Amino acid sequence: MITYPEVVQLELNINDESRKVTIRTSDTLLHVIREQLGLTGIKVGCENGDCGTCTVLIDGLPIKACIMLAVEAVGHKITTIEGLKDVPIQKAFQEKMGFQCGFCTPGFIMNCHALTKLHPKASDEMIERWLQSNICRCTGYEEIKEAVKSVSAEK
Ligand code: FES
Ligand code: FES
Repeated sequence: MITYPEVVQLELNINDESRKVTIRTSDTLLHVIREQLGLTGIKVGCENGDCGTCTVLIDGLPIKACIMLAVEAVGHKITTIEGLKDVPIQKAFQEKMGFQCGFCTPGFIMNCHALTKLHPKASDEMIERWLQSNICRCTGYEEIKEAVKSVSAEK
């Protein structure tokens, strides 16, 4: 019979820092980032991969941290909203009023940042498809789209 340790110690590369954590192998990345590393920018929403409020970047790709185990992130570069420093999409969200209550905003920013990096000239259709990963209950989608387009226009 295979036995698994209850807790493991491992190192995560997060926002360009190496951080040691002691976790259960079943802990999600969302839980570890918020509870152990104290980075509370990402929010707990549905916890089943639907709402996108827990979005982080793994090696530059947007991933929902609630459906990824922390052990799966070892060896990868994790970026949270705290790791973004004055990137264009943050200013664009302010200028275009891309948020209301702000609960969904960190997740949207991470997703939109990845979009503008990976597809700087995305079509309207692509932006709409990409934004389907995130849910905003305040229905600010048009302004978010405008924010993405304004960053693309600068490139
Ligand atoms: S909390 Fe992760 S997708 Fe909703
Ligand atoms: S701004 Fe309120 S949920 Fe999106």
